[in-house]
Amino acid sequence: MQIEETLLGGLSPEAFLRDYWQKKPLLIRQAIPGFESHYSPEELAGLSLEPDVESRLVIEKAGERPWQVIHGPQQEDTFLGLPDTHWTLLLQAVNQHDVDIASLFDLFAFIPAWRLDDIMISYAPDQGSVGPHTDNYDVFLIQAHGKRHWQISNQTVSDEDLIPGIDMRIMQQFDMSKEWMLEPGDMLYLPPNVPHHGIAQGDCITYSIGFRAPDQNELLDEYILSRLKHIENNRRYSDADLIPSANSGELSSNSRQQLRKLLLDTLLLTDDALDQWLAEFVTEPVRGAGPEPVEPAVSESELVELIKQSETCYRSEQARYCWYRDQAGQLLAYADGERITISKEAEEWFIRFADQRVFFQQELLEAAGSKHSLTLLCQLYNLGFLIFDSEL
Ligand code: SIN
Ligand code: CO
Repeated sequence: MQIEETLLGGLSPEAFLRDYWQKKPLLIRQAIPGFESHYSPEELAGLSLEPDVESRLVIEKAGERPWQVIHGPQQEDTFLGLPDTHWTLLLQAVNQHDVDIASLFDLFAFIPAWRLDDIMISYAPDQGSVGPHTDNYDVFLIQAHGKRHWQISNQTVSDEDLIPGIDMRIMQQFDMSKEWMLEPGDMLYLPPNVPHHGIAQGDCITYSIGFRAPDQNELLDEYILSRLKHIENNRRYSDADLIPSANSGELSSNSRQQLRKLLLDTLLLTDDALDQWLAEFVTEPVRGAGPEPVEPAVSESELVELIKQSETCYRSEQARYCWYRDQAGQLLAYADGERITISKEAEEWFIRFADQRVFFQQELLEAAGSKHSLTLLCQLYNLGFLIFDSEL
C-alpha cells in the first residue's frame, strides 16, 4: 500500500483536516508500515553531546530533584550515571541536522509549511516518560522503536493543576480517558491542549512532528520589534500650529489626532506592510541561525559546473521559505526572514523550491537551461539555501 493510503488510516487529508485537525485525537495503526528509527539509542546520546543540537534529559526519580531537566549539550559522564529506568532524552529540531528526518515533513505537505515547527526525537529506557502534560501545539507522535503506552485524558488543565516547584509543567493528577500501546509505525495525532502521558515499555524511540501557531503576545512582540528596527529618523511630536487653549487640562482633539497619527505611522498597519512582515516572520528561523551566504559568491557558469558534478542537491534546512501573491497578483518570495527579488519568469521555479527539499541533477540542468531560473538558482545558492552533495 502507498503511504498516502496508510498515513491517515484511510482518511483523505480533507477528511482528516475537517474532522480531527485541531479538534480531536486520532490513533492510526501502521500509519507508516515498516517505519524504523534512523538512529540507535547510542547515536541519539552521541548527537546530544554536540553543541549545536538542542536537547533535554529528563530524570524522573534518580536526579537531584524529581523530574530534573538537564539542558544540552549533554556530558558523556551524565549518561554513565543514569539509572536503568525512568528517564528520557529529548532531541529538538533533528530535522535541521538531517535531511532524511526533515523529509518526514513531506508526509504532511497537506499542512502549510509555515505551520511546521520541528521534529523532536526522544529515547527512553523502560518506564521513561516526561510525565502527564499538555502541549500548546498539534503533534503527530510516531512510534519509531520499541513500544510506548500512551494515555490521554479529557481534563481541562490550568496552572493550578501542575506539580509546583519542578523544572517541568507536569500534571499533579491525570485521569485517563483512553489508552493505546503504540508499536513501530503507529502514530497518534494530538491537537493542542489534550493531556497525554506516554510511558516507554522497554527501550523506546518516539518521533514528534510538531507544529507552530504563534499567539498574540508573540505576534505583537515580534511585530513591534521589527517596526522599531525600521525607525530611522525618530520623528518627535510637534505642534508648531498650536493655538491658545481655554482649559490647559484638556487633551485636545487636535493633539490626540496628531499623537494617533504619529503612533499609527510607526505601526504601519496597512495590509501590504503586514503581509510582507508576516512572510518575513514565518520564514525567520524558529531555532538557531539561518545559513551563511557562500563566500566568494559563484557565477552562473560556475553554478552550472557544480550542478554537473552533483547527483543531488539539498535545500538548506536551516532556513524557511514561503511565497504569496499580493493584491496585484505579483509573487513575493521570502527566505530566512527576508524578501528575495525574483523575476516574473522565475516564479514557477521559486514555487517549486518552496515545496521541495531535494533536487536531482536532471531537473536542475533543465532549470539552468533558462536564463531566469538559472539566475534564481544562483541567487539561492549564493545565499546559502542550496547545498550540493559534492560539497558534503
Ligand atoms: C516523548 O517523546 O517522550 C514526549 C512527547 C510528548 O509528549 O510530547
Ligand atoms: Co507532549
